[in-house]
Amino acid sequence: MRSLARTATAVLLGAAFPAGALAQAPPSPPGDAQVKARVEALLGQMTLEEKVGQLNQIAGGLFPGVKPEEALRKGAAGSILWLNDTRKFNELQRVAVEESRLRIPVLYGLDVIHGYRTIFPVPLAMAASWDPSVHERAAAVAAREARAAGIHWTFAPMVDVARDARWGRIVEGAGEDPYLGAAMAAAQVRGFQGPYLGAPERLLACAKHFGAYGAAEGGRDYDPVYVPEGQLRNVYFPPFRAAVVAGVGSFMSAYMDLNDVPAGGNRWLLHDVLKEEWGFPGFVVSDAMGVGNLVIMGFAKDRGDAARRALAAGLDMEMASGAFPEHLARLVREGSLPMAQIDDAVRRVLAVKVRLGLFERPYADEARVASVLADPAHRAEARLAAQRSMVLLRNERKTLPLAKTVASLAVIGPLADSRADTEGSWMVFGHVPAAVTVLEGLRAKLPGAKIAHAPGPEIRRQVPSMFDQFMPGPKKPAQSGEQAEAAFQQAVETAKGKDVVIAVMGELANMSGEAASRASLDLPGRQEELLKALVALGKPVVLVLLNGRPLSVNWAAENVPAILEAWQPGTEGGNAVADVLFGDAAPGGKLPVTFPRSAGHAPLYYARNLTHSPEGSSMHNVRYWDGAPTPLYPFGYGLSYTSFSFSNLKVGAPPVKVGASATVSVDVTNTGALAGEEVVQLYVHQKAGSDSRPSRELKGFRRVGLKPGETQTVSFPLGPDELRYWSTSQGKWVQDAAAFDVWVGSDSTATLHANLEVLP
Ligand code: BGC
Repeated sequence: MRSLARTATAVLLGAAFPAGALAQAPPSPPGDAQVKARVEALLGQMTLEEKVGQLNQIAGGLFPGVKPEEALRKGAAGSILWLNDTRKFNELQRVAVEESRLRIPVLYGLDVIHGYRTIFPVPLAMAASWDPSVHERAAAVAAREARAAGIHWTFAPMVDVARDARWGRIVEGAGEDPYLGAAMAAAQVRGFQGPYLGAPERLLACAKHFGAYGAAEGGRDYDPVYVPEGQLRNVYFPPFRAAVVAGVGSFMSAYMDLNDVPAGGNRWLLHDVLKEEWGFPGFVVSDAMGVGNLVIMGFAKDRGDAARRALAAGLDMEMASGAFPEHLARLVREGSLPMAQIDDAVRRVLAVKVRLGLFERPYADEARVASVLADPAHRAEARLAAQRSMVLLRNERKTLPLAKTVASLAVIGPLADSRADTEGSWMVFGHVPAAVTVLEGLRAKLPGAKIAHAPGPEIRRQVPSMFDQFMPGPKKPAQSGEQAEAAFQQAVETAKGKDVVIAVMGELANMSGEAASRASLDLPGRQEELLKALVALGKPVVLVLLNGRPLSVNWAAENVPAILEAWQPGTEGGNAVADVLFGDAAPGGKLPVTFPRSAGHAPLYYARNLTHSPEGSSMHNVRYWDGAPTPLYPFGYGLSYTSFSFSNLKVGAPPVKVGASATVSVDVTNTGALAGEEVVQLYVHQKAGSDSRPSRELKGFRRVGLKPGETQTVSFPLGPDELRYWSTSQGKWVQDAAAFDVWVGSDSTATLHANLEVLP
């Protein structure tokens, strides 16, 4: 039993894990009846104040005024966040389980977004792998490390669909597409939580930020969202729904107004859709300060009103703003809040604690932490994930892969040797960046080559980031104009006479993420100017982009022979970049998001509806007259060192009836001389029906590895799950009897076409 369970988990974690990696075999999860009995027994003994305590998450460590010991002793806090200290976790837990009346353990939550100690590529990059299994394993490693350190709950995955590249938080999600987003959401939930809630070495996951936070107007973080129900259900909800189906134990409500009702006080969203319609059994936590914010947002008249309306809307736990403990008990006593609502929320929180096994195993094993965090298998996974997430955007005259015989390299740019920017945005509170930088990765790859480095002028946000205060190390003063000019000249001098120039440019980690939206998508600072000066030297230049959002690198796309989108690739990022540049790993990632030519084109995404006047159908039908609004790089795009062809597209046994499935199959062949990986992508378009439908929608994908000359037949089902949608005209889910275009190919502009007829 023990070894079987271990094997199953090892399979889930992937081959890189040694068989003995688990400290203990999973106990069998408690059954529903057992959980219920335990929760009811506890609830029956709880005072109103103790119940409210379970709904209160407090900030440990961040705010000086908060005294977690006192709150835990009184049973006045059920969860703690923003603490990352194993010894302290155990100390505080001891207060909860030994000194509080009912001995209910405290639940520790933290943002473990793309790794704990071993940092993986940012989630947008992981989505670019188009390989859910790699994302699942990354989440499993993050869970293993964080759980060893004493954390129980991660505020991840972030599954917000984002179609506006200006929005800073696009980096935290899977990009613009609901289908790809749903696959990545489910994979992360499986990775974080394992086969069941409470599995050893796993975490409780949290699908956030429900819902449609990514549709902030103008890409301005926190701004209101106006999205009609059809778009919510067809575009923004599918990843959340997939997380529920995958068994996610918690949800986080979003900050912003959704159609004029803040998500955290939105009963339709949290109660009607999530809990009633989807049957979500877990609990909903607010975003940080989210309940108190309902007053600032002009929705609630005071904090009491905010607490009452948030709870009534279906929000079960309040994150850090303290309005629940201030007001809920009074509201119940006054009769303005039914006790049943409190009980429902408490049941949900307690059930998760029971399922997690916190009552049996409340403490972290302090002696084990260091060895888990140092497990070399974790770094191997991170390197693989980074390789698989990279997207080759351009490769003229086969500039890449570079030959290892190259004698000298110049590695230029402000991101070439920055650990923090290589690991990327949303690092765990207190984490010290330990990435292998691109410079270091190249030096390790080519120990015999002459490798010179110059950063060039610094890049910097015009407004500091709220996260800067959490970064270790002294803050550097801004460069003066003269210093920047000297750095520019030094970079050009360094590049002169070298065989190859590698320019590592893009955005700092703090230029994307929360409160990090931009009005421009251009390379910040003087980077493009420096790139032009480097290209003018006449040597091969490779641009390695480190960034957390699409960038409008128009000049580079025409003038730099090779461009590798490496995103923010994490702890092993520099090694993985070197692996791909020198052909030890084949680039096979694809863009999970459209790259616009200009911020003025945002939001730009592929799955737009047709219009009466198709773009480009006549010279007057341009969408803007001042520059082509077509993407710089389309959704799904990415090159390889080899080439692929698609043929023999078949839609099996058409016509099919509504409710039945057809099988689409296609042959994909590696027509080049090198082994490589291609992502086979299936798109459909419903030609007519109850509503207008997008001109293309992704409905299947598979990443396949092929040797030179090898052909593989890939097939996908096309049935009600893929073809139904929420119809605005009918106010319900429909599957129309309709004709469909079907395309299969290597990106969202695929041309290999077939027809599908669905009959009534
Ligand atoms: C963010 C959340 C995060 C929370 C806790 C908020 O500011 O919006 O994504 O989970 O803080 O750190």
